[in-house]
Amino acid sequence: MSITKEEELAGMQKASEAVAYTLKQMINFAKAGITTKALDDFGAAILKQFGANSAPNKTYKFPGYTCISIDNEFCHGIPSAKKILKEGDLINIDVSAELNGFWSDNGASFVIGEDKNGHQKLVDASKAILHKAIYNIKGGVKISDIGHLIETEAKKRGFKVIKNLTGHGVGRALHEEPHEIANYKDPFNTARFKKNSVVAIETFISTTSTYAQTLNDGWTMVGNKGGFMAQHEHTIVITDGKPIILTEMNEIWN
Ligand code: CO
Ligand code: CO
Repeated sequence: MSITKEEELAGMQKASEAVAYTLKQMINFAKAGITTKALDDFGAAILKQFGANSAPNKTYKFPGYTCISIDNEFCHGIPSAKKILKEGDLINIDVSAELNGFWSDNGASFVIGEDKNGHQKLVDASKAILHKAIYNIKGGVKISDIGHLIETEAKKRGFKVIKNLTGHGVGRALHEEPHEIANYKDPFNTARFKKNSVVAIETFISTTSTYAQTLNDGWTMVGNKGGFMAQHEHTIVITDGKPIILTEMNEIWN
């Protein structure tokens, strides 16, 4: 969406506060021994306190309130009472929701407890790359130039990017124009970021794979060549200068 009125900015700020606070609390709650269903229930209760509706549940009938993906699962992992978090697991939580007609989206990957399996380097790369990408976005910048930046930064650190997962416009729906903010230089995408528009910028940094594919459950995505992936996501308003990070309360950069 494009912000044209003060009320629209306020609406986006409220929806973003709900998803960012929920994500932050879920990150703090996630620990070895709990199930991903318990973690999802915890997050769902916080969204409810805000009066917010889970976006994947409401829009896509996703069987959960937040997407929780562990280890070889890249994204859209289904919360389950059978999945118990273990020390050293790589986990991704993605929280998106609607509040009073405004939609916001954010996510983070992190390691459960001690980094027994050496995932921290991937997580740190994803965080740093999201930061760099976001602070290079302003009105008029080509979307494919940000994709190029993300891929270049990933390669520099010895990682790859997933080509068929992208950031997107957000605001009056979970997914809006521009539909594809890729993590690589897409030569066919000549679009530019527009001042006052709201977009969800997300990284998809991987160790081995370059494509994500859906499992038979119809939701969970894994890599075409296996390995691991880290994602970090903020919803932002584009300006002439530094973007406004609507979901900064999630503290994923801290
Ligand atoms: Co998103
Ligand atoms: Co998301």
